[in-house]
Amino acid sequence: MSQVAIRCEGLKKSYGQGENKIMALKDINLDIYKGQLTLLIGPSGSGKSTLLSILATILSSDQGQLFLLDHEVSKMSEAEKSDFRRDYLGIVFQSFFLIPTLTVAENVALPLRVAGKEESMALDKANILLKAMHLDKRANAVPTELSKGQQQRVAIARAISNDAQVILCDEPTSSLDQATGIEVMTLLRELAENSSRAVLVITHDLRLFPFADRIIKMNDGQIISVSDNE
Ligand SMILES: Nc1ncnc2c1ncn2[C@@H]1O[C@H](COP(=O)(O)OP(=O)(O)OP(=O)(O)O)[C@@H](O)[C@H]1O
Ligand SMILES: [Mg+2]
Repeated sequence: MSQVAIRCEGLKKSYGQGENKIMALKDINLDIYKGQLTLLIGPSGSGKSTLLSILATILSSDQGQLFLLDHEVSKMSEAEKSDFRRDYLGIVFQSFFLIPTLTVAENVALPLRVAGKEESMALDKANILLKAMHLDKRANAVPTELSKGQQQRVAIARAISNDAQVILCDEPTSSLDQATGIEVMTLLRELAENSSRAVLVITHDLRLFPFADRIIKMNDGQIISVSDNE
C-alpha cells in the first residue's frame, strides 16, 4: 500500500462576506499517495485551484486540517511554511510566475540557489532539466522571448529542480501541443513512479486520463468521486 503524502480532513474555504460569500470548498476529505500521479478534475469554478493553493500552503483553509508529509500545516508559522515549500514542494501555477529579469536557466536554477546550492551546480542541473524539456537552446533567453508552451515547460522544470517530494500542478499542459503535453505528463508520471513522489495535476484535458493512477472529481466545492485507474 502506498504511503500518504497529503491528508485533508474537513477542509473548508470561503471567499467574500455576507451576500457575496462563496463557499469555494465545502468539506474536503482526501488522501494523496506517494508514488502516484493523481488527477484533479471538475468544471470551472468547482474549487480545484483553491484546493491546490491550500495544499501548496499559499492559502489557508477556514476550517479543517491539512497534513503534508506528516507535518500539520496549521501548526506552522509563515516562515516555517516558506521553508517547507522550498524543501518539499514543487508548484506549477495556472499563470507561470517566471521571473522576467532572469534567464530561463536561472529561473529553473532558482529553487536550488534559494536552498543554498552553488551557482554552477544549480545551473548544471537546470540545463539537464531544460534538455529533457527540449528547451536547452533557449536556456539563455528571458521568459518573455518564449512561447506560452515553452514558458510552461520552464515552470515545470523549475518546480522539479529541487527534487520536491510533492509536486502540485495547475493545468500544466494547457498551453502545450499534444506531443509536448504527452512528454510533460510522461515526465511527471516517471517522477511519481521512479522516485515515489506525490504528483497532483489539475486538468481539463481528457487525453491525460491514461497517465493517472487516480482521478479525483470535484463539483461545487466538493469531491464527488475518487477512482483508481486500472
Ligand atoms: N480570490 C478569490 N476571491 C473571491 N472568489 C474567488 C477567489 N478565487 C476563487 N474564487 C471563487 O471560488 C470558486 C472556486 O474557484 P477556483 O479558482 O478554485 O475554481 P477552479 O475549479 O480552479 O476553476 P477553473 O477551472 O476555472 O480554474 C469560484 O466560484 C471562484 O469564483
Ligand atoms: Mg483553476
